[in-house]
Amino acid sequence: MLFTPFKINSITLPNRLVVPAMVTRLSGEDGFVNDAIRERYRRFAKGGAGLIVIEAMAVHQAKSGPLLRLGDDQFIPGQRDLAKLMHDSGPGKVVPQIIHFLKIARSGWRQKVDDLSLDDIREIARAYAAAAARAIKCGYDGVELHMAHAYTLSSFLSRLNPRRDDYGGSLENRLRLPLEVVAAVRAEIGREFPLGVRFLGEECIKGGATVEDTRLIALALAKAGVDYLSVSAGGKFEDAVHRPGEPLYPYTGYSGDRCMPGASYPDGANLYMSTAIRACLREHGQQTPVVATGKINTPQMAEDILKRGDADLIGMARPLLADPDWPRKVQAGQFDKVIRCCYANVCKARDEHFQTVACFLWPKGASQAPESDDLQPPQWPASGDGLKIEHKNGRIYLRWNAASDNEGVYGYDVFRAEGAGEFMRLTAVPGGLTTFIDGGCAPGVGYRYQVKAYDFAGNRSAASQVVAAGTA
Ligand SMILES: Cc1cc2nc3c(=O)[nH]c(=O)nc-3n(C[C@H](O)[C@H](O)[C@H](O)COP(=O)(O)O)c2cc1C
Repeated sequence: MLFTPFKINSITLPNRLVVPAMVTRLSGEDGFVNDAIRERYRRFAKGGAGLIVIEAMAVHQAKSGPLLRLGDDQFIPGQRDLAKLMHDSGPGKVVPQIIHFLKIARSGWRQKVDDLSLDDIREIARAYAAAAARAIKCGYDGVELHMAHAYTLSSFLSRLNPRRDDYGGSLENRLRLPLEVVAAVRAEIGREFPLGVRFLGEECIKGGATVEDTRLIALALAKAGVDYLSVSAGGKFEDAVHRPGEPLYPYTGYSGDRCMPGASYPDGANLYMSTAIRACLREHGQQTPVVATGKINTPQMAEDILKRGDADLIGMARPLLADPDWPRKVQAGQFDKVIRCCYANVCKARDEHFQTVACFLWPKGASQAPESDDLQPPQWPASGDGLKIEHKNGRIYLRWNAASDNEGVYGYDVFRAEGAGEFMRLTAVPGGLTTFIDGGCAPGVGYRYQVKAYDFAGNRSAASQVVAAGTA
């Protein structure tokens, strides 16, 4: 099902895999497309995802760190080249995510929705509509409105929106500006041009909206004629940690963890949100497709989600940053060649510090995922893999011999089995390391481990010997 085409308004995606928006910090503060941006998105396009959402780009002129922009006609030529490059590089459809954000300062001050005049509010809708019109001129296949996380439209939708006029308080009032933006954009782009919205399934902050509200937000957006709804979570200013001298970054608190759940979260951590939202839409006769995202990373998991009807499309952000060729490899039946995300969240940390977003697993200093068609797998040395285990102070220490490869060992996957259970992949470590410390073992449970080396193409070595610790 994952690789069956899917229609959204006037376009047909070649498959149901979506690269959700992921800022790269590769653009300068000028907001123009540059070579590094082109290369990042060429890789996503070549990798074969059905829909690629280009990172958030500003609809207005407000100052920010490195961020793409679509708030003026001067940005059209660069964006047009990017759209063409992506269409030439792969089968997927391409839409930009467009964003309006409020001002923030290094002092920790931030502008809030109740600071905006009615003129400011009208200007927001106008800016979105103008940017969406530019998306058509650039040759994109649609446009996605950013209504998620800490940004302006999400802050209007928030349960914590403090406005006392027609734009705050009740759910109907909180929906007013987002619906005005949808109407203004639709008036500009016409009925046929696909229009998506990314919004929050849960704010993940104290007093914030949960699916009780957000399924109704989805329903209102669906009735307003939005063509797909992409569900995200958290990423709010309310619980952000202020570091002296730095502007607030909305992913530093608990809600930030819920937006990009790290290794300690279960797979599919946010799935219950898209499930509830899609069920509500269908109960009310709305067929709007729903994108689920958040620690979805295996073909089996993706297929099960689609089969159960928990979502129509599968978003994978960090897994496709780790390996943009995930779709192409999986479609060819080669999931065993995928370089798998370990959710170390180094990408998130780099974004947080306005550094160019890169993956922890990439070779040191690389600005893009490596590309290779090599077929020769890594080999363990003649003396063997040498995997050793030690159980000390509640931690399990693994150590092994370095493997070798004709093009270089890129990393190692570590697998663990609990008790009599099957081996599951626990994590990955970059090629320069030959150790791993597991601090997540419970007393009284037996654990077995094995390790495989992989190269840049994702060829895996033979599995190492199995080592065991603990009592079953
Ligand atoms: C570095 C980074 C940048 C992101 N930038 C955006 C963004 O511009 N817009 C957006 O809606 N979500 C953004 N996200 C959130 C992702 O789209 C996605 O929802 C999140 O990473 C969880 O999905 P995953 O588990 O597949 O990575 C970003 C995530 C990361 C890691």
